[in-house]
Amino acid sequence: MNEGTQDIPAPLGLLAELTHRCPLQCPYCSNPVNLERRSGELDTAEWKRVFGEAADLGVLHVHLSGGEPTARPDLEDLVAECREVGLYSNLITAGVSTDEERLERLVEAGLDHVQLSMQGPDAQINDFVAGMRGAYEKKLRTAKAVGRLGLPLTLNAVIHRHNIARVGEMIDLALALGARRVEIAHVQYYGWALRNRASLMPNRAQINAAMQVVESAREDLKGRLVIDAVVPDYYARFPKPCMGGWGRQSLNVTPNGKVLPCHAAETIAGLTFETVREQSLADIWYRSEAFNRFRGTDWMPEPCRSCERKEIDWGGCRCQALAFAGDASATDPACHRSPLHGHMLAVAEADAKEEEAFVYRSFANAGAP
Ligand code: SF4
Ligand code: FES
Repeated sequence: MNEGTQDIPAPLGLLAELTHRCPLQCPYCSNPVNLERRSGELDTAEWKRVFGEAADLGVLHVHLSGGEPTARPDLEDLVAECREVGLYSNLITAGVSTDEERLERLVEAGLDHVQLSMQGPDAQINDFVAGMRGAYEKKLRTAKAVGRLGLPLTLNAVIHRHNIARVGEMIDLALALGARRVEIAHVQYYGWALRNRASLMPNRAQINAAMQVVESAREDLKGRLVIDAVVPDYYARFPKPCMGGWGRQSLNVTPNGKVLPCHAAETIAGLTFETVREQSLADIWYRSEAFNRFRGTDWMPEPCRSCERKEIDWGGCRCQALAFAGDASATDPACHRSPLHGHMLAVAEADAKEEEAFVYRSFANAGAP
C-alpha cells in the first residue's frame, strides 16, 4: 500500500473500454454521447502497461469492453497479457463479429469468461433494438461456440419498455444457451440511454410484472442458473451502491486512456480526469482529486450524512444526482429520502407514456468530429 493511502482499499475490477467502435447501435449504450474515434485509442503497448499496473495495484478482474472489444485486432495479445500478469479476463461482447476460430485463439491466449449481450429473445426484437439485421443469428452462433469451447457464459439482457414483457423468454434463452448466469439489466439512464429515455422507460406495472417473473424463475431454476436483477433506479425506494461506491472497488479506463470512477463521470463538470498516458494507475487511484472527491462518506450532505445506510449504498449515484439535482454531491434522487424523489418518479411516469423513436448510437448521431 502506498504511503498516506492506508484507508483507501485497492480496486478489485477494471473496466477496459478498448474502443468505442461497434457494429451495433443500441439506443441505451452506456458510452458517452461523444464517442472516441479509432485514432485516439491507446495502442497495444499502452494497454499492456495498464494491465501490468492494474495487477500491481491489486486489481483481480479485467472486463474487456467497448464499444465492441473484438474490433481490436490485438485483442488476443491483450488477453495474453492479462493472463501473464495474473488478471482474470472477462470479454464483454455483442457477439456479432467473432467466429469460432477467433474465440478459440482468445481461449488459447487465456480468456476466462464471456459476457454476451442480448437485445431480445427473437430476431425481430433483437435486431430492431440492436439496429443491425442478422445480429440475433450471429449471437446464437457465438453463444454456442463459447459453450463448445468450455468457457463460462453470462447472458446480459438489457431490459426496457420494448422487451420487458419478454423477460421470461430471455431467461429461457439463457438456459437453452448453457449460460451459468443471466443479468436482467434494466436500462440505466446515462449516456445514450439518457438521450433515449422517453423511448425506453417502462411503467411501474411492467416493472412489477417483470420482477415477479424473475422471482418465480429464481425459485424454479435454483442451482441451474443464477439470475441477477434489481429494481430499476427510477422506481426504486433506495439507490444502488453505484460502482460499489465512488473510488472504492473499480475504475474505468476509456479508449483514449482517461481513468474514471464510473462510465458517466465525465458529465460532472469541474472534475479533471487524468490519463494513463501521463500518470500511473496507482497515482490516479490514490491521489487524483476526482477519485477522492466522493470517496467514503465525508463529502455527504444530509440526509445521507446521518443515514444508517450510508455505508451500504454510499449515497447512490453521483451522476444521477447531477442529472436531476444539478449537483453531483446531492443525495441520489432514486432514494425516497431525497427531496427530488417524487420528481424523478414523475419524470419516469411521463416518459413511460411517450412514443418517441430511438436515436440509435452511432458516430453520425454522436456528432463526433
Ligand atoms: Fe442512501 Fe443517502 Fe438515501 Fe441514506 S439517504 S438511503 S445514504 S441515498
Ligand atoms: Fe457515475 Fe453512478 S454512473 S456515480
